[in-house]
Amino acid sequence: MLQKFNALNRDIVVNVDGKLLHRDQAGISSFDSAVQGGDAVWEGLRLYRGRIFKLREHLDRLRSSALALAFQGIPSHEKITEELKRTLAANGMRDGVDIRLTLTRGVKVTSGMDPRLNQSGPTLIILAEHKPPVYPQDGISLLTSAIRRFPPDCLDPKIHHANLLQSILAKIQANEAGADDALMLDSRGFVAETNATNVFLVSGGAVLTPFPVACPEGITRVILGVRPNSPHTTTATSWSRPRAWRSSMRAESAPSSRGNSSRDLGKFMPSPPCQSQRL
Ligand SMILES: Cc1ncc(COP(=O)(O)O)c(C=O)c1O
Repeated sequence: MLQKFNALNRDIVVNVDGKLLHRDQAGISSFDSAVQGGDAVWEGLRLYRGRIFKLREHLDRLRSSALALAFQGIPSHEKITEELKRTLAANGMRDGVDIRLTLTRGVKVTSGMDPRLNQSGPTLIILAEHKPPVYPQDGISLLTSAIRRFPPDCLDPKIHHANLLQSILAKIQANEAGADDALMLDSRGFVAETNATNVFLVSGGAVLTPFPVACPEGITRVILGVRPNSPHTTTATSWSRPRAWRSSMRAESAPSSRGNSSRDLGKFMPSPPCQSQRL
């Protein structure tokens, strides 16, 4: 397993709608939309030396995802930033911190799917943990999963929502195959991303990364200077390329050493962005 319990997080406090609560007490209502339907949006942030990297970009994406889902009463950037500061201060956190920022559609007046049952505004959850980047720099293995990413006419990948069942099913397949994570394809069979990150392949001196057709428009990959450019990357490309890597804000950037558990490409050195970019 790539992650395990960190004792530094034993007594952290979590911010649930402005209330700072010990992790054992920090719960949400059974009527909350996240519980009822996975009806929530989220962002993964990193804290470096007291500053959250690219906070504005993440808050912009959170807001546009919430608008796309027609959430009512979305908190302002200023309000969310204030709550982030309170949470980090309460935990005495300054560096090496991973923040999961979640906004749910909120509490329903009765159980049910209809968003009109949400009459008290969204629930904001800020979970900050001491956590180094999840992926090791000497490479991980990827299984090519049979679970496909939705095309935009099924679920728009620009909505960064918290309904992660596709990725979780792909991760289960990877676990069962003894791989670290899963490479996921779109419904046409072209490479989309991994279950948790955007993906890059080096091909003939160029770096390929898919258009956001079946993967989110990652903030980290834009910062790495790689614009989406590849609509038609296939697994053959990933098997035949000696270098591949993946990125997200929480993962930073990390190399992938194998394209498929049955197609071992061997270990290779981290690609240049992994060596030079500490995000
Ligand atoms: C499945 C998946 N792919 C790609 C990304 C892109 O990450 P970022 O925008 O942090 O670079 C994320 C981020 O949460 C993600 O969850």
